[in-house]
Amino acid sequence: MTAQAAKSMTAAGSAEANDAAKRYGAVLFFSDFDDPVTWGDALRANIPGLDFRVYPDVGDPADIRHVLAWKPAPGFFEPFRNIAQVINLGAGIDSLVGRDDLPDVPISRLSDPGMIALMRSYVLFSVIRYARNIPEFEQAKRRREWHYIHPRPLHQIKVGVLGLGHLGSAVASGLAAAGFDVRGWDIAAKTIEGVRTYTGPERDAFLSEVEILVNMMPHTPQTEKLIDKAVFDALPRAAKFVNASRGPVVDEPALVEALRSGQIGGATLDVFWVEPLPQDHPFWDMENVLITPHLASITVPEAAARDVAESIRRVSAGGEPLHRADTRRGY
Ligand code: GLV
Repeated sequence: MTAQAAKSMTAAGSAEANDAAKRYGAVLFFSDFDDPVTWGDALRANIPGLDFRVYPDVGDPADIRHVLAWKPAPGFFEPFRNIAQVINLGAGIDSLVGRDDLPDVPISRLSDPGMIALMRSYVLFSVIRYARNIPEFEQAKRRREWHYIHPRPLHQIKVGVLGLGHLGSAVASGLAAAGFDVRGWDIAAKTIEGVRTYTGPERDAFLSEVEILVNMMPHTPQTEKLIDKAVFDALPRAAKFVNASRGPVVDEPALVEALRSGQIGGATLDVFWVEPLPQDHPFWDMENVLITPHLASITVPEAAARDVAESIRRVSAGGEPLHRADTRRGY
């Protein structure tokens, strides 16, 4: 870059900083889970001078042009009549669809490398834990028993990923790179290197050999209770199940029954129909269920703020945000 070009870029940067509020309007942040200070800093590092407000310190609701939110309560959007876009502070947009307080503006989701890496690590851990018989060793230790189980080579272990969207395909290719025999199924045909893919009516053929099934489907009216008794019955006996996407994709009573009967040999569950999982839920007492409190993946502000800033710039200039979701499809 020439000195002249560098100088004009700096000048453009400071012009943006001086009139960021006028150019972009205000950004409103809402989340019970994410840290507003980190997000504010990360966004202002990308757009100096950005007018960043944290709910409930909204100021004049008419100033709000962009909403960055995670699971806002029903009615949340009603006061904000000038919003130009909503950015979901996560991957699944299920809490933003089918509500009547949202104006007709683009809704986008986050999809940063940090989120993908965390999701891959959660699923890889869960699958390896079963592949290497760790639950059996945990039980054997409680009995003070030296319990040898001959390890199986990873390429013999058949892992299935249901849902091959952005996160699902990253998870499937991560498992393949780790050495597993990976298959994937989705409603629409997908191609992923190193993964044998199935679509639509091939579902039972896909399930018939899967030893460890990973759910990565989004929650939409079409996918609700998609993983039901028929799915569990189509798996080989004592298959393991990992749910890292959304609870309502699973018929929970059918899963409880399959875990009790031994049709499903163990489950790793990060998401549930009701969260926090109610105290009296049968999963709590099941020795073969590992429960984690909806944290398989989170958004990493430093990584995602670049995309959010870019969406603020694009939408303010009349363009499309990054990672726009299709609210009719639900993801
Ligand atoms: C978490 O569940 C997310 O959708 O980002």
